[in-house]
Amino acid sequence: MEPTQTVCVVGLGYIGLPTAAILAANGNDVTGVDVNPRHVEEINAGRVPFVEPDLESVVAGVVAQGRLRAQATVPHAQSYIVAVPTPFTETYDVDPKYVRAAAESIAPQLRGGELVILESTSPPGLTEKMGEYIIAARPDLTLEPGEHNTIHLAHCPERVLPGRIMIEIVDNDRIIGGVTEQAAEKARDLYATFCKGELLMTDARTAEMAKLVENSYRDVNIAFANELSVISDRLGIDVWKLIELANHHPRVNILQPGPGVGGHCIAVDPWFIVAAAPEDAKLVRLAREVNDAKPDFVLEKVMAKAAKFREPVIAALGIAFKADIDDLRESPSKSIVERLSAEIEHAQVLVVEPNVEALPASLADRANVEHAEVEDAIERADIVLVLVDHHQFKTLDREILAEKIVVDTKGLWR
Ligand SMILES: NC(=O)c1ccc[n+]([C@@H]2O[C@H](COP(=O)([O-])OP(=O)(O)OC[C@H]3O[C@@H](n4cnc5c(N)ncnc54)[C@H](O)[C@@H]3O)[C@@H](O)[C@H]2O)c1
Repeated sequence: MEPTQTVCVVGLGYIGLPTAAILAANGNDVTGVDVNPRHVEEINAGRVPFVEPDLESVVAGVVAQGRLRAQATVPHAQSYIVAVPTPFTETYDVDPKYVRAAAESIAPQLRGGELVILESTSPPGLTEKMGEYIIAARPDLTLEPGEHNTIHLAHCPERVLPGRIMIEIVDNDRIIGGVTEQAAEKARDLYATFCKGELLMTDARTAEMAKLVENSYRDVNIAFANELSVISDRLGIDVWKLIELANHHPRVNILQPGPGVGGHCIAVDPWFIVAAAPEDAKLVRLAREVNDAKPDFVLEKVMAKAAKFREPVIAALGIAFKADIDDLRESPSKSIVERLSAEIEHAQVLVVEPNVEALPASLADRANVEHAEVEDAIERADIVLVLVDHHQFKTLDREILAEKIVVDTKGLWR
């Protein structure tokens, strides 16, 4: 089979590498580019530099077939996909430095007629800005459609769930946002080589906003549940029972509260909306603030219970940002445990996290923190603090909790 087209994927992380691999597995001739030499080396050896089920076998296969190679420099290709980080600044606006660096590394290779897709999560307008970076470096090219030297720009956000990326990258519906209609059509043809979901055509700004809105929708709804948990606590009502009852209404579906909101999407992306429309994004901002304040509430609760003991022993169950994963990024549970061990120096904090081999340095370096097994930690504890609903905790024998003070942020043992 002849390669469908030449594609260069810039940034070979959680998003870029699966995209490069699946494009290559579907007949495209793919070059992946990364500034991290370890990623380049590992991928060329057919290995994956992070954990993602089923990715390594695909990478090993396409590398062995010569359909995917990794390198440090950008080659010429018919299409480019940019999947570099888009962190936010102290003022919650996007820091475009990685997108800019990627655009400037692509620019010298362009001849006219190429498609450049931004897959990184972006505030409205960043795809157009990427075009400006390219044209600033190559004023001989144009973004106007229909010319021999036109560069086509599109935004196609990624909504895969880590742990299921190789399934969802193929099956999920995909938003295709062209800066021009021609760009959207070109991008659709590329994604059609591997995507079985519906390809939904729109403009780039709407596509950028759609990704942010999806995560903000989750954030706002979790904020409602978290606010209900604080109100219920004050009023002496069991919030879990309350939500269960309210959800019997045929048009009500309240989400579950927790210790806060973590991860690098839901806890981050709404800020791009706030930064883009600070006067108008009132609810979006408030939801972020409600969710960010939930760890303070949990901390105060535990500290009040701990005040009854001279040297309290606290078992903290879970520090990942959600159940059954090892990802600690932006984790409210991790920050609660860090603050607990710092603020009650005379407490001993037994941290149970079955998904990591070792605790992060921010906890491991503290003298009053120990990485413990769940049953041992509960047996030794005065206070049991549930922070994550890992499956190992759900099935615990409740007998071992008798006599213990339990602060359960996940409603695990109702
Ligand atoms: N991980 C997810 O679940 C997820 C889901 C949806 C969207 N996103 C978005 O996708 C984007 C990428 O996220 P990720 O999780 O893949 O990040 P990542 O950190 O895993 O990977 C980014 C890669 O880009 C490389 N890089 C940085 N600058 C570069 C440059 N100038 N040239 C070449 N390589 C460069 C880094 O070395 C790294 O390997 C972000 O905008 C993120 O918000 C991520």
